Amino acid sequence: MTQNPDVVVVTGAGGMGLAVARRIGSGRTTILADASPETLDRAVEALQAEGYAVTGQITDVSDAASVTKLAEAAAAEGRLAAVVHTAGVSAATAPVDTIMKVDLLGTALVIDAFEPVATRGMSLVCVASVAGHVAQLTPDQEAALATTPAADLLDLDVVRAAEGGAPVGAYILAKRANHVRVQAAAMDYNRRGARINSISPGVISTPMSHAEQQSEAGHHMMVSLQACGIGRPGTPGELAALAAFLTGPESLYLTGTDVLLDGGQAAWMRWHR
Ligand SMILES: NC(=O)c1ccc[n+]([C@@H]2O[C@H](COP(=O)([O-])OP(=O)(O)OC[C@H]3O[C@@H](n4cnc5c(N)ncnc54)[C@H](O)[C@@H]3O)[C@@H](O)[C@H]2O)c1
Repeated sequence: MTQNPDVVVVTGAGGMGLAVARRIGSGRTTILADASPETLDRAVEALQAEGYAVTGQITDVSDAASVTKLAEAAAAEGRLAAVVHTAGVSAATAPVDTIMKVDLLGTALVIDAFEPVATRGMSLVCVASVAGHVAQLTPDQEAALATTPAADLLDLDVVRAAEGGAPVGAYILAKRANHVRVQAAAMDYNRRGARINSISPGVISTPMSHAEQQSEAGHHMMVSLQACGIGRPGTPGELAALAAFLTGPESLYLTGTDVLLDGGQAAWMRWHR
């Protein structure tokens, strides 16, 4: 059986990653990457049983060498068409240092590792969060988060200061860092004929949001879904549809930006809360 040489990389084999692989992996070579061998094996087996040409690569996105290995393996497979970075942790289940390493540093490492192997037409999408839209940082803090070399990110004052606080503060900071990092990387991606964007989900019904709902912050999240009028969480399929648009031919002029996918939660928080 011949495969289309187009290669798709999806980091994170959880709720979003699996849905994205299903949505954009048909007829392509897909590499799924996750730090958890059990989660990865389960996802790869499920996708293979459905006919996808998919392999798994154990990857810790907070480890530069591990992410570089993933990018090199993907580039060696064929033309890299799309990279969707969904691997991440949440403030309800992870401590502050893990949030900083995985959500903040990990995203910076993925952006850096795939830039040298990005070729014409490739599109990278990072999953950030609506949480990043409520951050209140100074222009200097944002500039530092956007442009400091990845290896030095965790030493920034703004990151250090968050280390003494609650996980939710670290999560907000990390997700805002994702937005500005993506913006700052757009020019280098443009010069390679490639694109880079982020998606900021509100609540998407995945194992992560199910775990969050048990926490106090999670309870507030669910209340706000009612208050803003949408009345339900988003589905992984809705997230995957946006990722397909952002990596597909109908968004070729869309780069260096963030797209909110939150059922109107951020709009409600600004004008009605
Ligand atoms: N689900 C939501 O409501 C929601 C809302 C906003 C933002 N997000 C963000 O979306 C992304 C995906 O979330 P999800 O809902 O699919 O979560 P999920 O928990 O279902 O999947 C996340 C996956 O990332 C993997 N992972 C964790 N640390 C890793 C690491 N260091 N290296 C590689 N893989 C690692 C986990 O093993 C897991 O399989 C995360 O960045 C999350 O912060 C989720």
